[in-house]
Amino acid sequence: MARRTLAAAAALAMTVFAGGALAQDSATDEAFDPQEYDIERGKEVYERVGVCLQCHGWDGDGMGRNPRSVGIAPNLREFPADAQLLHEIIACGRPYTEMPYHDRNAYSDGRCYGMTMDDFEDGEKPSRGKSIRDDDIDNLVAYMLTHMIGAGDTTFEQCEEFYGEGHRNCIPLEGR
Ligand code: HEC
Repeated sequence: MARRTLAAAAALAMTVFAGGALAQDSATDEAFDPQEYDIERGKEVYERVGVCLQCHGWDGDGMGRNPRSVGIAPNLREFPADAQLLHEIIACGRPYTEMPYHDRNAYSDGRCYGMTMDDFEDGEKPSRGKSIRDDDIDNLVAYMLTHMIGAGDTTFEQCEEFYGEGHRNCIPLEGR
C-alpha cells in the first residue's frame, strides 16, 4: 500500500470512529429485529440484486469468483457485526478497499463517513457496487444476521439447499 493511501486510510479510520459514535447516539440498532424484515427478499438481494456472492461466496465464506476479490473478501460467517455496522458497510462500502458502496448517493452529501467523492484522489475513489434501496439493505441485513453472521462452517445441508440435491459442488462437504 502506498504511503499516501495509508495516511488516507488512517484519516478514514478516525472519521469512521467519529461517525460510529454519532450513529450510536441515534441508537436505531437496538430495535433491529430480523423477523420484522423480509428475509427471503434479503437472500435475493444478496444473490441477485447486490451480487455479494460474486466476492463473498453464496454462503458468505469469502470464496467468491470475482477476480477483484478472490481470496481477499472476508469470511462473513466469522464477522461479528450488528445490524447497524452491516448496514453502514453495505451502504457506504469500505473506501480504499475492493468493498463497493451500494447506496447510489453514498458519497454525494457526506452521509457516508462525512465524506464526498471530492475527498478522494483520482484512482482512490470508492468503487460503486449495484445500487440497493435502503429498505432492501435492511432486508439484506436481516438475511445476513439470520443465515450468515456467526453461522460457523457451511454444512452439506445448506449447500444442497442452495445448489439443489446431489449437486457436485456439495460433494466436498459431505458428512459435514
Ligand atoms: C467486488 C467484490 C465485492 C463485492 C461485490 C462485495 N464485497 Fe463486501 N467486501 C469485499 C472486500 C474485498 C472486503 C474487505 C474490505 C476490507 O479490506 O476491509 C469486503 C468487506 C465486507 C464486509 C466487512 C467484513 C469484515 O470482516 O470486515 C461486509 C459486511 C461485506 N463486505 C458485505 C458485503 C455485502 C452484503 C455485499 C453485497 C451487497 C458485498 N459485501 C459486496 C468485496 C466485495
